Amino acid sequence: MEAHILAFRFEVEDNLGILTLDTSNEKVNILSTPVMQELNKFLDELNSRTDLKALILLSGKEGNFIAGARIEEIENITDPKDGAEKAAMGQAVFGKIAALPFPTIAVIDGACVGGGLELVLACDYRLARDSEKTRIGLPEIRLGIIPGFGGTQRLPRLIGIQRALDFILTGKLVDAQRAYRAGVVDRVIPKEFPMQQLRRLGVGFAQEIQSSAAREKIVARRNRANPQTLLLEKNIFGRKVLFDQARRRTLAETKGHYPAAELALEAVDKGFSKKDINDGLKIEAELLGKAVVTSVSKNLVKVFYLTEAVKKDSGVENYSGAAQEFNKIGVLGAGLMGGGIAQLMAHNDLPARMKDINLAAVAKGMEAAARVFNESVKRRRMTPKEMQNKMALISGSADYSGFKNVDLVIEAIVEILDVKKKVFAEIDTLLPPHAILASNTSSLPITEMARATKRPDKVAGLHFFNPVHRMPLVEIIRGTETSDATVVSLVAFSKKIGKTPIVVMKDSAGFLVNRILGAYMAEAGRMLIEGATIEQLDSALVEFGMPMGPINLFDEVGIDVAAKVSHILENAFGGRMAGDGMLDKIVESGRLGKKNGKGFYIYEGKNKKVDPAIYAFIPKTGKFDGNAAEMQDRCVLPMINEAAMCLAEGLVRRPADVDIGMIFGTGFPPFRGGLLRYADARGIDNIVGKLETLAGKYGERFKPAERLMEMKQSGKKFY
Ligand code: NAI
Repeated sequence: MEAHILAFRFEVEDNLGILTLDTSNEKVNILSTPVMQELNKFLDELNSRTDLKALILLSGKEGNFIAGARIEEIENITDPKDGAEKAAMGQAVFGKIAALPFPTIAVIDGACVGGGLELVLACDYRLARDSEKTRIGLPEIRLGIIPGFGGTQRLPRLIGIQRALDFILTGKLVDAQRAYRAGVVDRVIPKEFPMQQLRRLGVGFAQEIQSSAAREKIVARRNRANPQTLLLEKNIFGRKVLFDQARRRTLAETKGHYPAAELALEAVDKGFSKKDINDGLKIEAELLGKAVVTSVSKNLVKVFYLTEAVKKDSGVENYSGAAQEFNKIGVLGAGLMGGGIAQLMAHNDLPARMKDINLAAVAKGMEAAARVFNESVKRRRMTPKEMQNKMALISGSADYSGFKNVDLVIEAIVEILDVKKKVFAEIDTLLPPHAILASNTSSLPITEMARATKRPDKVAGLHFFNPVHRMPLVEIIRGTETSDATVVSLVAFSKKIGKTPIVVMKDSAGFLVNRILGAYMAEAGRMLIEGATIEQLDSALVEFGMPMGPINLFDEVGIDVAAKVSHILENAFGGRMAGDGMLDKIVESGRLGKKNGKGFYIYEGKNKKVDPAIYAFIPKTGKFDGNAAEMQDRCVLPMINEAAMCLAEGLVRRPADVDIGMIFGTGFPPFRGGLLRYADARGIDNIVGKLETLAGKYGERFKPAERLMEMKQSGKKFY
């Protein structure tokens, strides 16, 4: 059999077949239809070979095994039958791997996800190299679909139902060690072994498993994974209990917004009891067909494309220069945000030097960073030793010592413009000329801070969200003099530290995300004043898909912070952002929200409940007569309106930035594809019509933005 057509290379060594996947013209291996067809042909030929003792599967790309199936191929499927057929075709190919008359061994190095994992699950044995790049899992659920090339059938049969569901329902990706502990892979190859030796290790393993004792030992280890649950899973009643629980947990989490989770459960449940795996595979294919045509899946695929586009965006159109690298970071202010930022730097192996007004404040920042690392240690994502090494990267003092050789300063001191200007002027004289100065301010003008220095071109906003380690978004804000080089460097840096950046083109109040959110929060506050209850409002918006309701969010953000932001937005944009003084009164009474245990809710340990006494602070006007849909519209439509104004002002470059910002900065429901994708789906006509009705009922603030009116006229959409 002579090798190489498109993707595969085949060689024989000592009666062992070695199949290397290396798709030409691609950076990563992807299981597109042509690649699957080629594999299919290879497998037919291999099946008739009597000389082979085993087959070893490798990737020809360093640090990438198989990144999955080609997403574009499912994007346009609108008939569930077509989806099912596509799955059945993939299943048939992988079925041929499972049916080969000799043992098959996959040697994984790098991403082995989705269809990639399903392929190796059809092999008899899996080895994985313990490198940072190795990531193993079934992320299909994140695209609103279920694994359709056998994943929902083979994984539970290999590692048990509960462990398999943990992969399938969360879409989590794990490293080689965790995959080994879960029983997904049979052996971990230490990362010291270079790629060139993987083949030799595969060959060694193939020779080892020629002995039946060795084979039995390997298989026995997988089943030792968790004897108790395995016992439960073998029993039909035990399984019922298990699936009932999983269903309840899933619904509590998805609130029914993510149908793929229920379909995945159904596939595992119905398939597992089938003696013949082929019966299970039929069920899987049919359910994949159902999932792939849902609007939820279509929206999630679009969100995926948005994030891919962010990865490619340099932040400035047609910029050809290189991004500046930042190897040592200064962090000004060791408070809530400063501590979080220092942790994020150390997490990314960057030395961070903190400065605050006294050592006690610096110590607090260190403690905050240590708490985040500790959490990772508790979850066994990090060893205590690794934590120690990371913490050693953070240092601090009450003066600017150690700032002379930093490349980037991130300022996170108190939100007072005069203080910030003074600090910017001071530090400007100490920093090396190439250093960039970024402010984490959530509301103050970057341009004014920049002008306090002699390097205004090297000053920009770098706005993280709280909590820093968890929130994926950063806004990069251009001041009037900020240079393209500064923006490009901060964009590249943000990606390097694992964040999703959007560029805000103008230094205007609330930047993008807090401004749009401000319109939403202000309206929620007004409905409270009109007499809606806290429970009604919060449950209406959670039902819409927000991660928490707006009143709950006041408590999370801090009512004092929310009040301050609302004043800034009202000053800049007028009445539509007005809070009518309610928040100020609540703050005066000493209620700051979750951080001091009382706000709209009372917090006791992990529990919270609405505090009836809070209504004494809400000047109830008693007119509220809306239902959940009205509450949702009154909160969400002003966000669309505000976003349309932001686009018209050129605050961001494109609608995608709004959707990225709202999904990753506020948790706007991804299953809706983003704020503006939602507007498009509902129809601009409908949005304008509804805004006009609301304006008639409640006033000018709902008046449709000019941009929306133009879009309605010309029949345009955001996308
Ligand atoms: P914080 O009050 O927790 O921390 C501020 C720290 O700055 C304190 O430790 C204070 O001692 C220190 N500080 C004050 N003057 C200083 C000076 N001259 N030199 C060095 N340190 C000084 O405040 P937080 O919440 O961390 O906010 C910091 C910045 O981050 C503000 O600009 C805020 O607007 C922004 N921000 C806050 C978010 C939040 O959710 N808290 C979210 C995003 C941005």
